[in-house]
Amino acid sequence: MSILITGGAGYIGSHTCVELLEAGYDIVVIDNYVNSCPESLERVKKITGKDFPYYECDIRDRDGLDKVFAAQKIEAVIHFAGLKAVGESCQKPLEYYDNNITGTLTLLEAMRANGCKTIVFSSSATVYGAENQVPFVETMKTGTTTNPYGTTKLYIEGILQDVYKADNDWSVVLLRYFNPVGAHESGMIGEAPSFPNNLMPYISQVAVGKRECVNVFGDCYDTPDGTGVRDYIHVVDLAKGHVNAIQFALGRTGVEIFNLGTGHGVSVIELIKAFSEANGIEIPYKIVEPRAGDIAYCYANCDKAQRVLGWKAERDIKKMCEDTWRWQKNNPNGYNS
Ligand code: NAD
Ligand code: UD1
Repeated sequence: MSILITGGAGYIGSHTCVELLEAGYDIVVIDNYVNSCPESLERVKKITGKDFPYYECDIRDRDGLDKVFAAQKIEAVIHFAGLKAVGESCQKPLEYYDNNITGTLTLLEAMRANGCKTIVFSSSATVYGAENQVPFVETMKTGTTTNPYGTTKLYIEGILQDVYKADNDWSVVLLRYFNPVGAHESGMIGEAPSFPNNLMPYISQVAVGKRECVNVFGDCYDTPDGTGVRDYIHVVDLAKGHVNAIQFALGRTGVEIFNLGTGHGVSVIELIKAFSEANGIEIPYKIVEPRAGDIAYCYANCDKAQRVLGWKAERDIKKMCEDTWRWQKNNPNGYNS
């Protein structure tokens, strides 16, 4: 039996493929490569020395999904596939709702029709909104999202909860990621955005000389140095969290929510300085206007993941910065390098 990984060629998906293979799972990947390329999957094979099938398939393509289910014995799905750029989602809400929500509905229909009722879903800390106080705990009521991307995560969480309510044979795990950064230690797979919307990819593009300086979005927040505080988590720790989550999801039914973070907040300035120190590279920065929709603090309480899944993030900020830089300098143009 195999685990189907949707969006497995992407940043978090490719790292999760490595960890699942190394933990002894068989996997099958589908991706439409809208934000990735099959080279990442070839590199997963090189890192692990293991083979696995992958298909070019859109999660909105019901026939395509049925063909994959018919060709492979699939016992569970880890669902990463989705569009994730916050700014773009405000300009293209229909495309985001279609891709992320219609895509998830089509995937769930295909799963039900093929007798597969176990799913682990990539949600986000964004569902806590601005109303809740840090550290965010899974039992808090979800908040108000500020953009269509975030709203798709909130809606999909609700859809999956309703699916379970209607049919108690489902096993649903909602993973709320905080801020994934870093790359596999080999430097062979990593994040390859065409434009760096998030802080760490921006810092590493400054380090490699592609951009002049980091624009720090405001230093007027109510935080120790005035810049936004986030819970950065090494992508390999995050990927390992999926191995624990799938182990947990298999052989049970119900809906469970887990935060995957470190539980520690790091400011924008602290991250820039940590990157400089870890890699011996000067990172120029300047303070600019705050970005709309940003909050001062976002970090997790991760007790539940440790207690129930037996999972805890282990890699520190220095390691996150070193591994980001190894990937970036070895692959200055991502997988096209
Ligand atoms: P990514 O863009 O690198 O990976 C997503 C993958 O899904 C890509 O390979 C893309 O080609 C594929 N995809 C998109 N739409 C598809 C479709 N219709 N059919 C098939 N494949 C499709 O992003 P990532 O950072 O690896 O994120 C993975 C998941 O985790 C996403 O759902 C994202 O929203 C969620 N998430 C990411 C972060 C983050 O900071 N990276 C934070 C919270 C949640
Ligand atoms: C953003 C998204 C969130 C998404 C997450 C992971 C917004 C409002 N939120 O979260 O929905 O789940 O990415 O994909 O976009 N910063 C700078 N300069 C930069 C980039 C960022 O100063 O060039 C600051 C931000 O203001 C923030 C921190 O760095 O304080 C982290 O930003 P980012 O990496 O974009 O992540 P989030 O804002 O936490």
